[in-house]
Amino acid sequence: MFVTVLLLLVTLCAQGGNGLERAEAQRSGHVSVVIVGGTGDLAKKYLWQGFFQLYVNQVRSGNSFSFYGGGLSPADAATPVLFEILKAVSCSKDVAPERCALLKEQFLRLARYRQLKTLEDYRDLAEHIERELQQEGMTEAGRLFYLSLPAFAYVDVADKINNSCRPTGGAWLRVVLEKPFGHDFRSAQELATQLGSSLKDEEMYRIDHYLGKQVVAKILPFRVENRKFLDPIWNKHHIERVEIVMKETLDVKGRISFYDQYGVIRDVLQNHLTEVMTLLTMRLPMNLSSSEEVLQKKLQVFSSMLPLRKNQAVVGQYQAYQTTVQQETNKTKGHVSLTPTFAAVLAHIDEAQYEGVPVLMISGKMLDERVGYARILFKNDIFCLQNPSGVHCKPKQIVFYFGHGSLQYPAILVSKNLFRPVSMDGDWKEVTEHTEVNILGLPISDYYVQTPTEQKEAYSQLISHILAGRKNSFISAENLLASWALWTPLLDSLAGSHPRIYPGGADNGDLLDIRVNGKDIGYNSEVVIISPEQMGGASANSFQVMQGKFRSADMVSAWAEELMERLAADIQEAAEAAVREGGVFHLAISGGSTPLALFHRLALHHFSFPWSHTHVWMVDERCVPLTDLESNFHGLHDHLLQHVRIPYFNIHPMPVQLNQRLCVEEDGGAPLYEKEISKSVNGSSFHFVLLGVGYDSHTASLFPGSKVGELGESLVALTESPVKPHQRMSLTFSAINRARAVALLVMGKGKHELITQLSRVKDDPDKWPVTGVKPADGRLVWYIDYDALLG
Ligand SMILES: *[C@@H]1O[C@H](CO)[C@@H](O)[C@H](O)[C@H]1NC(C)=O
Ligand SMILES: *[C@@H]1O[C@H](CO)[C@@H](O)[C@H](O)[C@H]1NC(C)=O
Ligand SMILES: *[C@@H]1O[C@H](CO)[C@@H](O)[C@H](O)[C@H]1NC(C)=O
Ligand SMILES: *[C@@H]1O[C@H](CO)[C@@H](O)[C@H](O)[C@H]1NC(C)=O
Repeated sequence: MFVTVLLLLVTLCAQGGNGLERAEAQRSGHVSVVIVGGTGDLAKKYLWQGFFQLYVNQVRSGNSFSFYGGGLSPADAATPVLFEILKAVSCSKDVAPERCALLKEQFLRLARYRQLKTLEDYRDLAEHIERELQQEGMTEAGRLFYLSLPAFAYVDVADKINNSCRPTGGAWLRVVLEKPFGHDFRSAQELATQLGSSLKDEEMYRIDHYLGKQVVAKILPFRVENRKFLDPIWNKHHIERVEIVMKETLDVKGRISFYDQYGVIRDVLQNHLTEVMTLLTMRLPMNLSSSEEVLQKKLQVFSSMLPLRKNQAVVGQYQAYQTTVQQETNKTKGHVSLTPTFAAVLAHIDEAQYEGVPVLMISGKMLDERVGYARILFKNDIFCLQNPSGVHCKPKQIVFYFGHGSLQYPAILVSKNLFRPVSMDGDWKEVTEHTEVNILGLPISDYYVQTPTEQKEAYSQLISHILAGRKNSFISAENLLASWALWTPLLDSLAGSHPRIYPGGADNGDLLDIRVNGKDIGYNSEVVIISPEQMGGASANSFQVMQGKFRSADMVSAWAEELMERLAADIQEAAEAAVREGGVFHLAISGGSTPLALFHRLALHHFSFPWSHTHVWMVDERCVPLTDLESNFHGLHDHLLQHVRIPYFNIHPMPVQLNQRLCVEEDGGAPLYEKEISKSVNGSSFHFVLLGVGYDSHTASLFPGSKVGELGESLVALTESPVKPHQRMSLTFSAINRARAVALLVMGKGKHELITQLSRVKDDPDKWPVTGVKPADGRLVWYIDYDALLG
């Protein structure tokens, strides 16, 4: 039988081939393909068709093939099953029917079933392959094992393959695996380690069938070919947002025992959507055909992804899911599954190019339509006064339409107000004749549309890439682990979250609409049911701000949030008054964690603050480099300065590092800062000084027992802290008490003891430094939150 088929092949080659193809044929060899799980669903639906396609395309390459469907059942039972599957394969349209019949007949003869259960079975298979190679006098090109199995069987089968089926004489071994590759970072790593003891990384082909979709595979070539149009706009200044969406209409009936342990994030977002995201945002490789470079550039995307936090995701579950879970897993009525069947996640890439650009990944079961796409929506800065339907007024977008949905064919669409894309190579064509259809808000006639001349099944594409060894169409081990490292913390943080329940299909209405709110996302419509008891609970006056006296100075007290609101408003008022009066506002700020909430409030709510007229001074600083995380300036920078428009010249960090050393008396850092203050600040009198108070009642960096009263008239001094880092630079009481306004901020339950003590003690700055704060002509106000005041 083998001989006949080979002769047929030779005949076909001779008929169609030119000299070059024959030369090619001599270099090629025999390929054995083994589908382990060869009668399973995936094999039946896609794999055999894919391998048949491969066979048809390779007939003229000179490679010869044998195909084995492997399974646990004995051969006599499974052979007819396999035969039925194989009979159903079909040729593409361009193959003439007679030729197709011939090819199918050959393919059927080349394929057979083998029981693959024990190590012996694998040994027998290997012996069989070697015997046939020998009998036919063929050189071997390689062996391809496609594991179409549940993931728990991978390690065992990989071990058997390594032990018995490795080819010799320079032929290759390639083993194809399907997701799931683990359940989280640790399990993925474990699986990788276990497989690694049987197979080398270059031998493993981890399939993500999304990478075989024609439009997905075209993302990088499209970006490269249209570089001259895209380079100027593919960045944060022009991109409004990126959306990667896969909507499904199906439920998960029949797959619950698998699905309930995974959910939509593990099933779709961690792999398919993440792969698309990397293709859209990775740096373009110099050489698209270099798998190594492409994989390398893809991996870089992960290292610049900002971590995904809980409030960057929303989850949902279709209503009927619970019942299905109970039915299929025999759980009791009380069992509640929190597994999400819908999720939307907002990611950010921490690169100058994409800073602040929202990247949305969304997928769900039981939605209104089946469709997959990625859309780059660009900002449109044109305002149309009279004719909003004019083409330049419309949304500007590029849509990678993977398939299904209203378009019914895969395509790349570029809205006509962007640019006319370069027409792609021979396998793609431009579509100009349209039936009326709307794609993401635009009629199709508003797009340049390109589509593949022939639609090809993702698996067929990937199978041909396996044979060609094109590893960039597969998931590398590093890529896989990087993706799990990104998703695992989010999955952990969502573990106890209750998904929003949605009815399914068109009835979902706007229930799953999402709102992007800064770095967070949420559902747009609130579905909150508040019971009357909950409404009645909080007493109205809990939001009040209370004013009173503390240590004979003014005091403002409130819950933390209202207190911050009030303090921020008071600082802005002082700033506006100072700017009105003298055109400038001098603000001195202390370090530590207490004012961080205030900084956030100022940065996020006080857009009318006169920052461009504000000078920021430091109340105190630790003797560490400014880049050190412990530096007060570092904290001020991260939480305030980098978020507001303040001129660089107006920022005055303390000179703790001079002559490449920290806070050395002879370097004169303190007098230097004092001089800077005297020169810039009228009468060295700051408009506003914000101080905190430590547990030991220190304020600024003036600590108990450090004779801070003896610093005389100097405004700035080096001081010693009892805690590390010990050395500090600080404004003195002379400087503080010249200020026009001083705020003392005290927050948290932990400060209640201190507040109680301070309410009783007499002024004694050596023992209770904060009692030395007594502005000569200015106003002192204590800002104390209820936690600190009331305990
Ligand atoms: C495969 O099996 C051999 C022993 O038969 C072992 O030495 C080798 O490390 C295994 N793994 C790989 C990747 O070759
Ligand atoms: C691109 O990479 C491929 C595959 O590694 C290689 O064959 C080809 O020579 C490279 N092309 C250039 C221009 O470097
Ligand atoms: C559920 O229970 C039925 C009847 O008791 C049994 O036939 C079925 O195998 C069980 N299914 C699972 C998943 O345990
Ligand atoms: C400086 O302060 C003094 C006293 O407070 C005031 O009289 C004077 O006008 C101020 N000068 C400027 C330039 O603001």
